[in-house]
Amino acid sequence: MNRVLSGIQPTGELHIGNYLGAVKNWIEMVKANETFYTIVDLHALTIPQDPYQLRTRTLATAASLLALGLDPKRCTLFIQSHVPEHTSLSWLLECTASMGELSRMIQFKEKGGKRESVKVGLFTYPVLQAADILLYQANQVPIGEDQLQHLELTRDIAKRFNHHYSKVFVVPEAVLPKHATRVMDLQYPNQKMSKSGNSSLGTVFILDEPSVIERKIKKAVTDAGSEVVYDPKKKPGVSNLLELLAASLPSGKAPTELAGDYPSYSTLKAATSEALIELLRPVRRSYTELISDQSELEAILKMGAVKARGVASATLSVAQQAMGLSV
Ligand code: TRP
Repeated sequence: MNRVLSGIQPTGELHIGNYLGAVKNWIEMVKANETFYTIVDLHALTIPQDPYQLRTRTLATAASLLALGLDPKRCTLFIQSHVPEHTSLSWLLECTASMGELSRMIQFKEKGGKRESVKVGLFTYPVLQAADILLYQANQVPIGEDQLQHLELTRDIAKRFNHHYSKVFVVPEAVLPKHATRVMDLQYPNQKMSKSGNSSLGTVFILDEPSVIERKIKKAVTDAGSEVVYDPKKKPGVSNLLELLAASLPSGKAPTELAGDYPSYSTLKAATSEALIELLRPVRRSYTELISDQSELEAILKMGAVKARGVASATLSVAQQAMGLSV
């Protein structure tokens, strides 16, 4: 059986791109693997955060994952900061990683790594990520393409540690989900959908009311011509709607097949908003229940942290001994 670990930032309300691009695959992987999923609040601290908002968003992210269908009895879902082994191992690994290799991380450079005021935590962010993965001896790490470089670094750190000390860590592999949908912004269909897109109409959140979903889809940018065809290069707007429709319908039909079923952009839009509304209706109901009973939510997360610590503390202790710490 594979051991799987992945992490998600505590952004709070998730959007349909998070679900179809990542979380849906996480839920799928629970069925046949031993899965660990963590909400990375320690990573969130590497950029300025309002303390109240961070706490609220962390819980909202947890409730969203559960509402989308992640079963906490079959996977281990936990908040990163609840498992102190992450920061402990991170320090050990920081003492094996070099300034040079961390300086090459694209995410660090993009987030303004040259500025004097940039926090040290942003620089060492990928080492904490390596600790997240290596603590659980995960062999598979589902991630998006933007995280491949961090995974490559994790592999380097693990191999180097195993070679230099003793064989403590499993060297993990990235899993790029085969069926993930790359959901684009509804207003700027050449950009990936994101929480902070250029227009509030561009992003469908999983908790949007039906009327809001309808409006966003109705206003979605389409392309020249009037024929519904799946062609992401020439018709990015229409193709994105077809992708969303295909991923939301239970039929499992591919976007190319669906294209023929709709005689016009407006019929495609009507079908897409209906499918999204139906997909998200039970999610919104379940979220409302979860967030109204915070003690139950906290109990679920505490249970996850206990399970996670069982595995993490064993790995940490082996790593500490391998490095010569007297534990
Ligand atoms: N850096 C990842 C992101 O921004 C989140 C993350 C943290 C992660 N730790 C992880 C992903 C471990 C996979 C495995 O999306």
